[in-house]
Amino acid sequence: MATARRSTKATAGRYRDAITLLKADHQQVKQWFAQFKKLSDASRQQMLARSICQALRLHTSIEEEIFYPAFLEATGNKDIHHEAEVEHQAAERLIVEIEQSNPSDDFFKAKVNVLGEMIKHHVREEEKPGGMFAKARKARMDLKALGQQLAARKSELESEQQAA
Ligand SMILES: [Fe+2]
Ligand SMILES: [Fe+2]
Repeated sequence: MATARRSTKATAGRYRDAITLLKADHQQVKQWFAQFKKLSDASRQQMLARSICQALRLHTSIEEEIFYPAFLEATGNKDIHHEAEVEHQAAERLIVEIEQSNPSDDFFKAKVNVLGEMIKHHVREEEKPGGMFAKARKARMDLKALGQQLAARKSELESEQQAA
């Protein structure tokens, strides 16, 4: 998915704020999970699963390093913050399993699809009315500055992934 990566980088500067950036990430992986379901070719499944895992690592990293701590500081809402962290940890375990597996594993497809379900739930929690993003907007966090930090950290991590 070199094309997708390039376009993410090229457009990083135009995101208005942190929430817009994070929502765009959500949309992208959602699309990829839907695409994955339709694939029957093993090598394409493997490539797409790898792109999904890499994108999720980037996304969860920038949330955990930058957005979540800022949210906790601004709102003091431990319940929402901790649930989101625990959901990331659960997803991370499945991501590791998928990365260590391949389409010849009988459970490969099931693992990717279940990860998709977990992420769909997690994204809904972040985006729903009264959820983390809505509360972040109400708390008047500096979402523009955070958006810039997220974009900068994301492209840094992207370069590390590409070098690895
Ligand atoms: Fe997210
Ligand atoms: Fe998240």
